[in-house]
Order: sequence, then C-alpha cells, then structure tokens
Amino acid sequence: MRIEIATLFPEMCERVADESIIGRARRAGKLEIACINIRDYSDDRFHRVDDTPYGGGMGMVIEAEPLARCCEDAARRNQKKPHIIYLSPKGRVFTQQKAIELSRKEYLLLVCGHYEGVDERFIEELVDEELSIGDYVLTGGELAALVVTDAVGRLCEGVLSDAECYTEESHYNGLLEYPQYTRPPEWRGRGVPEVLLSGHHANIAGWRRVQSLRITERRRPDLYERVELTRQDRKLLEK
Ligand code: ADE
Repeated sequence: MRIEIATLFPEMCERVADESIIGRARRAGKLEIACINIRDYSDDRFHRVDDTPYGGGMGMVIEAEPLARCCEDAARRNQKKPHIIYLSPKGRVFTQQKAIELSRKEYLLLVCGHYEGVDERFIEELVDEELSIGDYVLTGGELAALVVTDAVGRLCEGVLSDAECYTEESHYNGLLEYPQYTRPPEWRGRGVPEVLLSGHHANIAGWRRVQSLRITERRRPDLYERVELTRQDRKLLEK
C-alpha cells in the first residue's frame, strides 16, 4: 500500500512515520509512505498557500488551487488515482471498521488542513471522504493523518509479525480487549488471576471472553449494545 500525506509540515509527519513498527515496515518495503509539502504547489513567490476567509472572520483558509495541484500531481507521479481523504473535525469519525476498509485500498492520499480549514470547493472537487479522529479540535490535520496512517498501515500484509497479531485486540470483534499480565506472578501485593496460571486453554479463553464482555459493557455501553451474545456467552456470564 502507498500512503501520501499532503501537509504544510512534512518534516513532522516524516519523523513520526519513520519510527517503530510503521518505520520498520517502510524500510522493509511493506509500506510506502511519502510526505508532500503543499507549499511546493504554490505559485506565490513566498510559497504562500492561504488567504483570509470570504465573509470575514478569524484565521486563514488554505486555497483550493495549490491543494488541487498537489493531489493531481500525486496521481500523475504514481499513474494511479489515489483515494483522497481530508482530515477535519467535521468528518465522519474514523473507526477500526474504517481502518479495515481503507487497508484494502492501494493508494491513499491524506490531506491535512490548518488554520481555519480549506476552501470548500477543493473538498467538493477532489475529496473522496472527510474523516475526523474524534470529537475534539486539533491545531491541524497532521496528527489525525498520522493516526490514520498507523491504524491502516498496521493492518497491511506483512507489517505486523505473528507475535504482534491484531485478531485478539480491542475493537477487532467489536469488543474491548481483556486484561493482560506478565511476570512476576506477584507485584506490589497484586496477584495474577489464577486461571491464567492454570494452563487450561478452554478456561482461559472463557475467562478472557467474560472479561472482554464485562469491560465493554462498563466502559463502552454504545459498543456493548451492538454485541450479539451467544448461548455460550450467556452461560459464561451467569457463572
Ligand atoms: N483537524 C483538526 N481537528 C481534527 C480532528 N479531530 N480530526 C481530524 N482532523 C482534525
């Protein structure tokens, strides 16, 4: 998969995307990530890409033309039309389900806004979807684009090792993950649930399922509402 991030702060994105698992996947050729400077598509001699909003108000708005040129050049360079995502607090909320859907695409172009946003006509003309990473306002789309890059990138073939597998983690099956423990068996007076030391795989799986269901019910009633409990689940929860 190829992910390009169009931003006014390419060094910031480059640094983050070069670390940890995503950085390792890039070096191993499992993921291609490129950060593009929107200013490179300005025709202003000071590389300015923003202007004051029509109708008045605070802040600056990024102009449609440099953004459009940046996206069109990306498609030309790669000889492929990217799936263009604009990151903004007005977008649909990004979820694990959306990450799975995007991980099946070949080429994503994530466009980061700044200041008071971007000219709406750019969104109408070129953007396939607008995504938000949550109900709060960031100073720009960069952190959101990096969140999407991380969540989508790790789902791509060959990025995670078997040991880092995602099939049991939070949100994979609509539930939050059960608690994990490692050595020592007692730490500051706190033990480890007996069942985890028993080596009894079926009991361990049952305990984990119950923990997942209970923690989801308590912390995320909105998710729990959508869980379809099996007969087995009901039996486990009654115990
Ligand atoms: N830009 C500013 N706030 C944002 C958010 N919550 N999600 C995505 N992009 C943003």
